[in-house]
Parts: sequence; C-alpha cells; structure tokens
Amino acid sequence: MELSEIYKPIKKELEEVEHLISKITENSPSLREELKTIFSAKGKRIRPALLLFIAKHYGVKGEIPIWLAVAVELLHTASLIHDDVVDNATLRRGKPSFHKFWGSDLTVLLGDYLYVKAVHLVLKSANPYIIRALSKSASKMVEGEIEEIKKRGDLDLKIEEYFSILEKKTASLFAASAEIGGLLGNASEAELKALKNFGNNIGISFQLIDDLLDIISTEAELGKPTLSDLKEKKPTLPFIYLLRKDKKNIKEKIRWVFEDGDFIRVKKEEMVKLVLNNGAKDFTLRKAKHFTKKAIESLKILEPSPFVESLNNLARYIVSRRW
Ligand code: FPP
Ligand code: MG
Repeated sequence: MELSEIYKPIKKELEEVEHLISKITENSPSLREELKTIFSAKGKRIRPALLLFIAKHYGVKGEIPIWLAVAVELLHTASLIHDDVVDNATLRRGKPSFHKFWGSDLTVLLGDYLYVKAVHLVLKSANPYIIRALSKSASKMVEGEIEEIKKRGDLDLKIEEYFSILEKKTASLFAASAEIGGLLGNASEAELKALKNFGNNIGISFQLIDDLLDIISTEAELGKPTLSDLKEKKPTLPFIYLLRKDKKNIKEKIRWVFEDGDFIRVKKEEMVKLVLNNGAKDFTLRKAKHFTKKAIESLKILEPSPFVESLNNLARYIVSRRW
C-alpha cells in the first residue's frame, strides 16, 4: 500500500502539520529561506503520522496533537541536517545536503533553532510525561550517534553493538512519537508499553531497511548516493553478516573502502553483488520483517479501530518501501 493511501484517515491533520511548519517558517525572518529549502524537500512524515494515528485511535481532538506532531518532525529534521554534517553526506532527498549548500556554520545553528522550536511546541502541551518522553528520546539519539562515531571503521563491530546504535539513533524517536500519542489519549500503562514497543520495533525495521537500501537501491530512488554507509566507515548489518561468514575476503575489501574513503581498490558493483548473492540481503530483510511482526503483535492489546489498522499498514509499508 502506498503511503498516500495509508495516510488518508489523517489527511486533514497532516495538512495542519504542513500549515504549522509553514507558519513557523514565515515567522522566522532571519532563517526563512533556509527553512523553506529544508521543508520543500518533503520527507515521508512517518513520525507525525504515527503520533496522529494513535491520538486519533484514542479520539483526541484539538490542536495539541498537531503541535506535537510538528515537534517530532522538527526534531527529526534537525537531527538529519546535523547527521549530514557528522557523516559529511553530499545529498539528501535528491538535493545537495544542507551543509554542502549553506555551509556547516549555518547548518549547525539551523539545527539548533529547530530543536528549540520543537521544545517550545512540546512545552505548550504542559504535560511533563510528554516532555520527558521527547527529551529522553533526544538524548538517546545523541548517544546513538556518538556510539556510531566511536565505532567508525570497526571491522569487528558486534551485531549487538549495531542494534544498540540503531535503536538509539533511530528507533527512540519512533518510540517517543508513539508514546506521546498514547499519553495524549490517556492510554493505560500496558497500552503505553505496547505503543512504545510498536514504535521501537518499526523504528528498528525502518533503519534496517534504510541500511539495506543504501546498498541495493539506486541514487535516483533514494535521493542520496548508494553505499554511503561504507564510505562513512559504518559496517551495517548486511556487511556484519558477511564478515561473520567470512565470505570472499570481505574483510579486506571493506578495509580498502574504509582506508580509501571510496571505491578505488574494489568496485561498488562487487560489494553489491556480495550482498545480493551470499544471503546478506535475505538475512537483513528477514530481520526487518521480524521486527515488523513484533510491532504488529504488540498492538493486539489495543481495542480494534481503523487507526490500529492504519498503524499496521504503516508497519508493513516500512518494511516494503523503496525509498
Ligand atoms: C540518520 O542515520 C541519523 C539519525 C537517525 C539520527 C541523528 C541524530 C543526531 C544527529 C543527534 C540528534 C540530536 C538531538 C538533540 C535530538 P544514518 O546516517 O544512518 O541515515 P542517513 O543515511 O539517512 O543519513
Ligand atoms: Mg547519515
């Protein structure tokens, strides 16, 4: 199912999200152009959608879910532009990454601005549990990103270390978005736990697919160069799998890319083939599907509703997406 189809039940709310993002942009005179540039390259809005579906499941009305949906999107956007500085990435969403275009100085400050705007919006909810959920996830994201930096170039990265990074840098914001939806709806303790599990598991699945697409997709489809994780010295699950199987001198080949920071002694195509032909793609996909299944199972304790079905569709989309 296409994302636009899945989003139909929250079409109005997502339009309000876009409207508020435009309003924030218009009301930021010194950064207006930059914010317009950032938000014109439209993302998938998965985190806002997650929060909104859950809020709708509990029948929450009014502006607060919109403010919070925007807050998680601003936090996500800030983390991406900062991540591109950290990773020295060249492209994002089919355009030059923000820092390549505007410079790292502006990018750092713009990210800061978006973080602070997100905090303003969350404070408007006046709910300490919501404030705590988002700030905990923000610190986890930083920890994940730092763990990843510290493990750069480590050919012996353990699978548990990889999952720890991925859960913190990516899944924590999915988990917080889901939790916030539940907190808005006065969900029970057990439901909150289920919602957090759902967010965490689809977040893990999202990043596993992100790491797989980085290898097997195309630049046109992804809007960013392929095999950038290897260039950034990050061994992701498909390569960790091959390293563990000790396939076809894989360690030496990855080391070459890490040392050269590019595909000089080994071609990109060869690395892609290794992933496709030695079970690494299937292994990663199986893992992603496993987390999707866990996510869907965790929602079984909720009262059935069309919005729970939308959440299940979102989980299925994440594991079958092409970009
Ligand atoms: C993308 O990973 C990056 C993230 C999911 C998180 C980045 C987090 C930070 C920069 C810290 C956030 C700080 C605060 C205050 C919340 P990736 O590089 O694997 O994906 P990519 O291929 O899309 O770049
Ligand atoms: Mg990155």
